[in-house]
Amino acid sequence: MVSLPAYRKITAEKDLPEDLAGDGLVDFLHEHLDRFTDDRASIARALEYAFSTEAGKGGFVLLAEQGGETVGAAVMNRTGMSGYIPENYLVYVAADAGRAPLGTGAELVRRALEESEGDVALHVEPDNAARRLYARLGFEEKYVEMRWKRPQEVRWKRPQEVRWKRPPGGK
Ligand SMILES: CC(C)(COP(=O)(O)OP(=O)(O)OC[C@H]1O[C@@H](n2cnc3c(N)ncnc32)[C@H](O)[C@@H]1OP(=O)(O)O)[C@@H](O)C(=O)NCCC(=O)NCCS
Repeated sequence: MVSLPAYRKITAEKDLPEDLAGDGLVDFLHEHLDRFTDDRASIARALEYAFSTEAGKGGFVLLAEQGGETVGAAVMNRTGMSGYIPENYLVYVAADAGRAPLGTGAELVRRALEESEGDVALHVEPDNAARRLYARLGFEEKYVEMRWKRPQEVRWKRPQEVRWKRPPGGK
């Protein structure tokens, strides 16, 4: 008989299983987000936010576990807003393709929706097959996300060789 994963909601870092403690969960997500992965620092920040007890922050991690091992994970962040900005943001969902049984990803998302209060937003790359999975669970492609990246601040230095001319008649 094929055993199915057990799903566990985690709201505090101290409750993570031993293999995911420290950088374990960052590593798991970084690896299994596959070609849609983020840099480790961003993943770590999303986890820190999910486990935060600060007002207006928080969220949770949902783990899929099988035979004492993690085979999937989802990270939900609460936005602290509602209405025009949904209450929650599903930041990451990843399943270990080699070990997670079929349906793990869908079940992670389904349960993550069940475990959160209010609406949920997420972003997904146009060429990610996960779009079908999200659509099947009721997500609609309501907006096209556009993002403006603040340019890196350049510390402007006046080059030594530049000599500013005084304006005519100026002091
Ligand atoms: C996206 C991801 C989490 C999905 O997890 P998964 O466990 O492979 O997903 P599922 O097994 O639930 O679904 C995969 C497909 O199998 C189908 N399926 C699920 N259970 C099934 C069953 N019992 N019988 C037949 N088909 C089934 C699903 O309908 C789905 O079909 P689709 O490709 O048409 O959507 C996983 O592929 C992954 O980690 N990808 C890399 C990271 C990523 O892209 N994350 C999302 C963006 S952040």
